[in-house]
Amino acid sequence: MSRIGILTAGGDCPGLNAVIRAVVGHAAVRDTLVIGFEDGFAGFVEDRSRELFPDGCGAILPLGGSVLGCSGANPFRDMAGGIDAGLKTFKKHDLRCLVVVGGNTSMGTAYAAQQAGIATVGVPKTIDNDVAGTDTTVGFDTAVNTATEAIDRLRTTAESHDRIMVVEVMGRDVGWIAVTAGLASGADVVLTPEEPIRFQRVVDEIKADLRRGKAFSIVVVGEGCRMEGETIQTGMEPEGKGAFRLGGIGHRIAAMLGDATGLETRVTTLGHIQRGGSPSAADRILATRFGIRAVDLALDGPHGVMVAISGGSLIICPLQEVAGRLKYVDPSLLETARAIGA
Ligand code: F6P
Repeated sequence: MSRIGILTAGGDCPGLNAVIRAVVGHAAVRDTLVIGFEDGFAGFVEDRSRELFPDGCGAILPLGGSVLGCSGANPFRDMAGGIDAGLKTFKKHDLRCLVVVGGNTSMGTAYAAQQAGIATVGVPKTIDNDVAGTDTTVGFDTAVNTATEAIDRLRTTAESHDRIMVVEVMGRDVGWIAVTAGLASGADVVLTPEEPIRFQRVVDEIKADLRRGKAFSIVVVGEGCRMEGETIQTGMEPEGKGAFRLGGIGHRIAAMLGDATGLETRVTTLGHIQRGGSPSAADRILATRFGIRAVDLALDGPHGVMVAISGGSLIICPLQEVAGRLKYVDPSLLETARAIGA
């Protein structure tokens, strides 16, 4: 019987358990045992592991989070002897390959593992949808649905009270969630990190609405947005301080809009609500397709690649080309938003 490993690295998102379930289910069909490692690469180098069987994974398909736990740790980079520890785990379990379910940073870690002799196959997941080489990632569709529903709810209360409702969404340096949920919910203004915020333009749009008798407004802002002329994102530590947590641009914009328009403003930061909960049908299906292909690649090769989707078809991309590269919002999607006045 062949053996493969699986871990979920980076931040969690809806659909991780659907990937695990697909990997375990298809591996069983191919007479292969799956070893699950806890808390991403941290649990891999520490060999915190358990055998996974289809019977135990049947019910996890609709569950959010990851039954294996998640962590963004990179012990190959940050821990003395991390690579050796990883190789030891890989050999001890006699693994053919390690399936790494992760975002673009984790694809970089998977590539480092591959170079060190730990055969890997990547599965792209993140609500941010910023992984290069694939049209979409596991978790993105659910996050967009969650954000869209939230904005729909905010619209009715904004309208009742004639308020500007600023909604800050996740996505780090890319505006996939902002523009997609903004379009789906008919937001009046959509601000994405791909373009600096031209504040006066936003004010002018809201004032034009006011003149037409529309006294409320929905403004969707990506957490990684910057004001025109500024280089630092809100919440960002000064350069060189390593990892940082974004957030706060919503409150900043709301205060400025209140002053500039005279309208009352309120802010909703959707935050981790976007990462939690049950995956959408589309994410479950994507996760299942990715998981099955990942098993086939793990067993048959090539290794050092990431499963991806392009135009509805599954493809593979070399991890080297994916690692650490960001996929920005499709300009045509931004054009669509601008064409509808958002
Ligand atoms: O990358 C996914 C993401 O949810 C980003 O959208 C967000 O900036 C970040 O993770 C939040 O990370 P944490 O859970 O560590 O606060």
